[in-house]
Amino acid sequence: MPTTPLIIGHRGSSREAPENTLASFRLAFSQGADGIEADFRLTRDGRIVCLHDAGLARTAGSDLTVAGASLAELERLDLGAWKGEAWRGERIPTLARVLVLLPPGKRLFIEVKCGAEIIEELALDLERAHVSPESIRFLTFDRHLVSSLKERLPAYRTCWLCDYRWRGAWHPSQREVLATLEEIGADGLASRDRAILDVPFVRQLRDRGLELHVWTVDAARAAERLCALGVDSIMTNRPGWLRGALERR
Ligand code: G3P
Ligand code: CA
Repeated sequence: MPTTPLIIGHRGSSREAPENTLASFRLAFSQGADGIEADFRLTRDGRIVCLHDAGLARTAGSDLTVAGASLAELERLDLGAWKGEAWRGERIPTLARVLVLLPPGKRLFIEVKCGAEIIEELALDLERAHVSPESIRFLTFDRHLVSSLKERLPAYRTCWLCDYRWRGAWHPSQREVLATLEEIGADGLASRDRAILDVPFVRQLRDRGLELHVWTVDAARAAERLCALGVDSIMTNRPGWLRGALERR
């Protein structure tokens, strides 16, 4: 039987709970997730907070943006009510709070949604939290940022998020992806596209000592194929459901 990859709650347990909130992260861990993926940005006053979008319109009905607001302004907003009354009162989490919540042995995938200006604060937050580098992965779509993170925080593994065709015309071959990973010094690939993933490609990643993470998988059949390929982790909006589905195999 193929081994089960790590199950990572994408934005927490975000099918049920408001994404990127402490409630969503706690729910993911209570449902048996091995880790969580969360999106991080820098506020106007230089604090790292957890939010997917640049602005607060979708999740808080506010015109504020993270980059244009202070932490105090952002903390006044409600990020739970849009998902249902039961979640009203959820606030924007700082990275520091997410790190405190991380149970021993569990993983935090930190997707950096802004530029290199976040790096020094990231280093400070991680140092203060005394987390093991093994429990952390940095993810970013930005190839230059992969190299910058590797240079400043070499003890931590940084994986490149390759978005393939869905963000435009660029649709690299397996060879181009491998060349890019090497060029930017990434520790692994995080892939949305599953068609590119086949046995020879996964073997080539392994031969280079690279990790392979896949997002966002909310269907059993796709997850089973990825288990058979031997991916390192599957990011899902439904970690509890996926844990159950893979255990029933
Ligand atoms: O980290 C993988 C995935 O979360 C990247 O896409 O838009 O969901 O942040 P997005
Ligand atoms: Ca993300």
